[in-house]
This record gives sequence, C-alpha cells and structure tokens, in this order.
Amino acid sequence: MKTDKTFTLTNDDTGESWTLPVLDGTEGPSVIDVRKLYADTGHFTFDPSYTSTASCKSRLTFIDGDEGVLMHRGYTIEELTDNSTFLEVAYLLLEGDLPSQKQMDDFTHNVTYHTMVHEQLHKFFTGFRRDAHPMAVMCGVVGALSAFYHDSLDIWDPKQREISAHRLIAKIPTLAAMTMKYALGQPFVYPRNDLNYAENFLHMCFALPAEPYKVSPTLAKAMDKILILHADHEQNASTSTVRLAGSSQANPFACISSGITSLWGPAHGGANQAVLAMLREIGSVDRIPEFIERAKDKDDPFRLMGFGHRVYKNYDPRAGVLKASCDEVLDELGVENEPLLEIARELEKIALQDEYFVERKLFPNVDFYSGIILKAMGFPEEMFTVLFAVGRTVGWVSQWKEMIEEPTLRIGRPRQLYTGPKKRSYVSIDKR
Ligand code: ACO
Repeated sequence: MKTDKTFTLTNDDTGESWTLPVLDGTEGPSVIDVRKLYADTGHFTFDPSYTSTASCKSRLTFIDGDEGVLMHRGYTIEELTDNSTFLEVAYLLLEGDLPSQKQMDDFTHNVTYHTMVHEQLHKFFTGFRRDAHPMAVMCGVVGALSAFYHDSLDIWDPKQREISAHRLIAKIPTLAAMTMKYALGQPFVYPRNDLNYAENFLHMCFALPAEPYKVSPTLAKAMDKILILHADHEQNASTSTVRLAGSSQANPFACISSGITSLWGPAHGGANQAVLAMLREIGSVDRIPEFIERAKDKDDPFRLMGFGHRVYKNYDPRAGVLKASCDEVLDELGVENEPLLEIARELEKIALQDEYFVERKLFPNVDFYSGIILKAMGFPEEMFTVLFAVGRTVGWVSQWKEMIEEPTLRIGRPRQLYTGPKKRSYVSIDKR
C-alpha cells in the first residue's frame, strides 16, 4: 500500500536525485517501489538470488525469519497444526478465511470427488523405469494432467480455475501414491471417498489387495500435520517458479509441474531425503564432531543438511512442531531407540552450541525431522520430497490463483547485468 514515505536515490557522479515511493505491507519490512527506476534513471537493480527483492504482493503467508514466526492468512502455524486439518488450511489458503461448516462440507466433497485420475494416466507409469526417482515421475505425470482435463484449462474463467485447483489438490496425492506403488512393483490402490484426506493418502500408499489395511489414527494425524506444515511458505524457489511459469499464462497443471522440478533440488525440498542420507553417513554419535568440522570447512562441499534457511535466522517453527510429532509417531509404531533419531538430536544439540552455527544463525529447518518421521511410517526415502510436493501443492495453487486474479498481472521478466564480450566481428573458421 502506497504511503507518504519516500526514499531518495542520488547519483554521486551527477548529483541528480530521484524520489522513490515506499509501500507498506500489513506486517514485515516496507519496500521501496523501483518499478519506474529504469525508465527514470536508466539503471536496473542487481539482486541475483533475490535476497532483497519482493517479487510480488501476497496476502497468503507471512514469515518473520528473525523471530521464527510463520502465519497463513494471519493464523500462526502452531495454532493451525494444533486445531485445524490440512483440508481446512487448504481452504484458508485458497479462499482467504476459515470456512463455515457448509463451505467446509462443500470443499471436502469437491476435493474428495476429484481424487481419481483418468484411467489412461495409469499407462503413463509403465513408460518409466521402476527405479526412476519418484520426483522424475511426478514431473512427468503432473505435467500430463493438462493433456487430460481440457475443460479446466481456461485460466481467465474463475470456475475453471476453481476446478483446476480442486483437481490438483485431489489428484496429486493419488499420483504420488501411484508413483510409490510403481517403484515397489505393487498394484495401484484406488482412492476411498469414506476416508479423510490424510487417511486416504496413507491407504493409497500402504494398502494391498491381498489383505485389509487399517489406517492408524495417530499416523493419519501425523500425516495431516506434516501436510499442513508444508502447505505454503511464501515466495520460496518452487513457488516463485510456479508464479513465473504462470505469469506467461501457462495452464495450472503445467505450472505446478514446474514447481515440482524446482522443489526437487537438495537446497530446497530434496533436503529431507538428503538429511537421512547424512545421518546414515555419520553413523554414530561419536562421529558427529568430525562432520561438524567438515560442515565448517570451506574447502569441503559438505553441509549439514536440514540446517540453515534463507529466511529463518531462528528455529524454523515447523521443525519445532515436527520434533514433537516425532516422539508420538515413534511411540505409536513401537520404535524404540531409533539410532538415526539419536544422532539427529545429538547433532542438533552440538550444532546449536557451535560458534560457527550460532554466528551464522543456522538452525534446524523443516526437513531436519520430517525424514525420520516419514521413514518410521514406512515411506521409502525417495518418496520424501514427493510428500513435500503433496503438501505444497496447496500453496502453489493458491499463489498461482492469487497472481492470476491480480488485475495488474504481467509476464515476469527479470533483467540482467551483461558481462559477456562487447560487440565484435565474426571471423571465419579458417582464420581463427
Ligand atoms: N551447513 C554448513 N554451513 C552452512 C549451512 C549448512 N547447512 N547453511 C549455510 N551455511 C553457511 C554458508 O556456508 C555461509 O557461510 P559463510 O557466510 O561463511 O560463507 C552462511 O552459512 C550463509 O549461507 P548461504 O549459503 O549464503 O545461505 P543461503 O540463504 O543462500 O542458503 C540454504 C540457504 C540453501 C537453505 C542453506 O542453508 C543450505 O544449503 N542448507 C542445507 C540444505 C537444506 O537443509 N535445505 C532445506 C531448506 S528449507 C526448505 O527448502 C524447506
């Protein structure tokens, strides 16, 4: 929102100065509006990893990284994980407010009745190797949804946008579970409409035709919580990817598939899988100091996976909730003395006391504990990032919808600082 405040920019060589407007949000730092900077001054700003750039306005999610606060539409993540459900948070993110009972019933019905995927999609899976990474399969099959649901591809029609949003929230868990089943060589399990979102997802992942599968309420509750914790996180790499793809007016299925590709990397959602690999590599509590030293060594590419965050310079509030959930899940499953959990707890303790980590404000992030819970639940490690994508789909879709509904929508097109050769003449190959 425009304020009376301004910022003055002065060219030290010429003495010329320009007054830039300052915009205020409802929370967080104000921003200097540089949209007319190039037209007025002939200069661009330079911010390659977006450490100081707000790429959009958004009403969805607020993070105070210094205080370790995460809020969706004004509600803290702790309040939501304590009181809400994933589908209610999905409604909140998509629509802006908590639903009435009637709105919740309708939304639940709409999502539940879109959980099946076109039967032809089943054939896509057989085109992949069984040992393909599930994220590779997800990039393909989610993108392929746009080849099946032609009746909801018109992004300018609010009804079609709504149907696409419901389809994505409903079908991504089905595709994720199919991805897992395909890798395991087991038959696909169809969704069940009598189960809630988390229960149905666990059912599709773990049921077998040969025997009945009873979903554990503790595990379903933990799964629901994990999905809430991953639902949205303002303008992270994958969400910004979805927005940039969507700004060209690409269809929502294609945009979400681009978000999945961005999430895959170990610096982002892929970290949950990397954490477990790291804990296994450390192997025992007495080897932790050696790995802490390696993480601090600038000549060693090793980093403590699940530690550090671009925005949080405090404990990631999602990690706190997951740490508490970890005990509940391991208790329910009767897992005593999980060695990787013991290493994780000790690693956290040592790192939080180490000057290197303290100085750089490196705290555990959401990925630090999620892998341990998911492993205990029986998910193969390659599935961890897929589970992140299942939760984050709601955030991606809500952010995409918010962007499309913005009257000032324009294609996203960053500029650059060119550092290549100046203009030169072509030299024929015999003269080079
Ligand atoms: N282990 C050791 N040192 C680290 C770590 C780490 N995990 N993370 C950051 N640092 C150090 C950097 O070397 C740097 O040190 P320096 O100032 O001496 O050069 C300093 O801390 C700042 O780190 P940057 O890389 O500049 O921070 P950036 O914001 O670019 O990166 C990131 C954030 C990618 C999350 C980083 O902390 C990291 O690689 N962490 C491990 C991977 C991970 O857990 N990713 C999940 C992120 S959360 C999510 O996506 C859900």
